[in-house]
Amino acid sequence: MSKTSTNSKKTLLSGVKPTGKPHIGNYFGAMKQWVDLQNNPEFTGDKAQKFFMIADYHALNFIQNAAEMKQNIIDLALDYLAIGIDPKQSIIFKQSDISAHTELAWIFDTITTMPYLQRAHAYKDAEAKNKEISVGAFNYPMLMCADILLYDVDIVPVGQDQKQHVEYARDTAIKFNHIFGGEKDKDNNPTSPVFKLPEPMIMESVATVPGLDGRKMSKSYGNTIPLFASYDEIKKAVMSIVTDAGLGAVAADGTVSDGIPKNIYEIHKLIKPEAELKPLYEANKGKYKALKDALVEDLEAFIKPMRERRALLAQDNDLVMQVLADGASRARMQAEKRLAAAKQAVGVSF
Ligand code: TYM
Repeated sequence: MSKTSTNSKKTLLSGVKPTGKPHIGNYFGAMKQWVDLQNNPEFTGDKAQKFFMIADYHALNFIQNAAEMKQNIIDLALDYLAIGIDPKQSIIFKQSDISAHTELAWIFDTITTMPYLQRAHAYKDAEAKNKEISVGAFNYPMLMCADILLYDVDIVPVGQDQKQHVEYARDTAIKFNHIFGGEKDKDNNPTSPVFKLPEPMIMESVATVPGLDGRKMSKSYGNTIPLFASYDEIKKAVMSIVTDAGLGAVAADGTVSDGIPKNIYEIHKLIKPEAELKPLYEANKGKYKALKDALVEDLEAFIKPMRERRALLAQDNDLVMQVLADGASRARMQAEKRLAAAKQAVGVSF
């Protein structure tokens, strides 16, 4: 049986679903960490393997229109490039190009129980809303386990809402290794585990970026600021940030407003140091329009260079296709090795 860690390089992998325009919650919660890691001296160049996936088969649970899916995939690949993912240093690929993902997910399905998947937050949320859930959405965590475990991943940089999914990947690796890991040592641990155990990497300060209404920023809540928003889109979004009625206003629960609008401040602090923000908010207590105007300008200054870089990249019609084709061939080599080890371990290939 082949062993894990065929190389000693650190490996990281993450992804976004192509379900529409990514927002600043996706960026600060996850995508910014990808770029920072790629450029970190410990991980840069060929010091580490870095996989950034477009999770299109996950998105198929939500987007069931071919033209829209295709456009979303191309747009998201451009987004990855525009934030600074360098296809020479990192592997950008789409999930559906590597059939090992769905094949390994099936193997994992067979060792996973229904009650275990019923504990997934996403499933429980759908249940609570009385939504009819597809088998694909129910099995979503198993496909994500395959995404991660196929590449011998050490680190999965994500936002807080994906923590449980990474824990599922760890649990599933442990379970698989235990059942199929061949020889056991004196503590009953497999001596030649097939899968490596991944760790989530979650930045505490941006683990859950709030949206315009103070809830988690999410495409499904319609409370987002798109990462590549135009000036007008930024303005429209910021002007709709929900605030209290102003300094001294008494809320239904009896609390009195201190004139510092939390929902504006929390977004503002993503892009401006608190040492600069605090005096600005003190000086403008209760002046919500002035604070929103300041946020619009700061967001524009932050987004504009990325938006312009993206527009330039979009002029090259072949770029995305080339990047995805190259990424697929590099990812496939690695994924197929690990799938072959798993198939050998379960006894279907010999
Ligand atoms: P997705 O597409 O919902 O979100 C992409 C990334 O953005 C993070 N995120 C946030 N972080 C902080 N605050 C927010 N308001 C916020 N909203 C979203 C998410 O935590 C995520 O890191 N299942 C994944 C995609 C996926 C994946 C994978 C990720 C598929 N396979 C393997 C890592 C490894 C998802 O739906 O992300």
